[in-house]
Amino acid sequence: MLRTITTTPIEGQRPGTSGLRKKVATFQKPSYTENFLQSLFDVVQPDSGATLIIGGDGRFYNRTVIQQAIRLASANGYGRALIGRGGLLSTPAASHLIRKHGASGGLIFSASHNPGGPNGDFGIKYNTANGGPAPEAVTEAVYKRSLEIDRWLTLEAPDVDLDALGTSQVGGMTVEVIDPVTDYADLMEQLFDFAAIQKAVAEGFTMSFDAMSAVTGPYAIEILENRLGFAKGTVRNGTPLEDFGGHHPDPNLVHADELYRLMMSSNAPDFGAASDGDGDRNLIIGRHRFVTPSDSLAMLAANAHLAPAYKDGLKGIARSMPTSAAADRVAEALGIPCYETPTGWKFFGTLLDAGLVTICGEESAGTGSDHVREKDGLWAVLLWLNILAKRRISVDQLARDHWAECGRNYYARHDYEGIESAAADALMAELMGGLSALPGRSLGVLTVEAADSFSYSDPVDGSVTPNQGVRVIFEGGSRVVFRLSGTGTAGATLRVYLERYEPAEGRLDEETSTMLIELIEAAEAIAGIERHTGRSSPDVTT
Ligand code: G1P
Ligand code: ZN
Repeated sequence: MLRTITTTPIEGQRPGTSGLRKKVATFQKPSYTENFLQSLFDVVQPDSGATLIIGGDGRFYNRTVIQQAIRLASANGYGRALIGRGGLLSTPAASHLIRKHGASGGLIFSASHNPGGPNGDFGIKYNTANGGPAPEAVTEAVYKRSLEIDRWLTLEAPDVDLDALGTSQVGGMTVEVIDPVTDYADLMEQLFDFAAIQKAVAEGFTMSFDAMSAVTGPYAIEILENRLGFAKGTVRNGTPLEDFGGHHPDPNLVHADELYRLMMSSNAPDFGAASDGDGDRNLIIGRHRFVTPSDSLAMLAANAHLAPAYKDGLKGIARSMPTSAAADRVAEALGIPCYETPTGWKFFGTLLDAGLVTICGEESAGTGSDHVREKDGLWAVLLWLNILAKRRISVDQLARDHWAECGRNYYARHDYEGIESAAADALMAELMGGLSALPGRSLGVLTVEAADSFSYSDPVDGSVTPNQGVRVIFEGGSRVVFRLSGTGTAGATLRVYLERYEPAEGRLDEETSTMLIELIEAAEAIAGIERHTGRSSPDVTT
């Protein structure tokens, strides 16, 4: 039976670059989740009978929200919902299902790499019919709607059994619980040379994959162990847990330190990789060689033609502004365009839809291609495997060869987390106010060549997105970027991105920390980080 529930608006339901992300307790407030979902359905107005994809990364509260979403979706006229068994769907797998089934959109319940559990974070992300994150026009409209909402629609129906494959009826909507892995694994098998990887494995190639007790476990076990023949146990932490075992499911050197230590040890397998909570990020480490995400993008782009899906070459490359310029050099060598976009995957979507680029990446461990409209952790792992299997080369040697040809972009990101919003805003305002005085200024050995606040004009739809971070470029191609995070759930996070370019004939075999000392000092001199925030060093360096 359909029911209309009277409600009142709840402040602060503004989705960020990756959906609405808050503490679990916030989503547990009466009407909070329903208000947001109803605001969304009011904005997207599904055609009656439309298909909706539903899944999440398995974190705490996922199952509760999925049951709410099923009832609201049915009451709002959807005709069919496809749901991953156990309520699981990785973000890239959801993107693929939306496209494959011609769905009008999809709901992905995840807070990505943020911690989970009753005291952790939860999130709701809506992807549109192209499979990509909802554009700003949609998220803003949802926010506006959430400020005036006065009712939500639901119906009385028992919970759907999320653990049994099969079809059931909820009001006028058919609910299909599907295997979350098969379609995605089949897609990967189409894109990559599985035979070449299987051969390398049979000849002794080894790897370790850390699923971080998050959603990629079942995907990695099926693809790496069952289909490619890697030994059982290659996938570690392969069972999704509601609290990710108490860890941050964030594939960086801090949170995946066990994998990192293994890869630097004498027992290291040939290849190591990890993925995040919802499966869209990746960490790539060869034996004794960590590859920065920015370098990974460049190296994948340079070698992508070795995979069947990209054998005819790339149309173009896109990288987010703070991502290093390593990919730009590859694009130049290949004679294809390289686009610089604001942080966040949705800006890649229009370029991919228009066929302008094939591969995209961000410094924050997101890499992907036109096969879906999200970044894709396992895709990056498989493209690396495909390249290594075809070239019969180690990660370390591939990286060295790459730098010897293109030069090396030493790179690090410094995060200052949980700082007071007012202090963060004051820092950015002062920085913006002083931009015009920066060019020509000498800071130790560095001289500022240019400084600006990054504004993006979308080449496809002409939209302009201003104030996407401050860029300070030094003579010789080194750079510091300052921006505030759009995904934090407590206070503000200042991100400082440091990049030093060494040409092919320069110093290619140094420690990153040594090479960035002058840039770190310059960043402090330019922004007064300690003066504004009281912090003399970052909380996290990646
Ligand atoms: C962070 C990353 C960004 C990524 C986003 C969503 O956003 O820096 O590259 O697209 O998470 O995964 P930020 O917190 O910096 O706004
Ligand atoms: Zn993620």
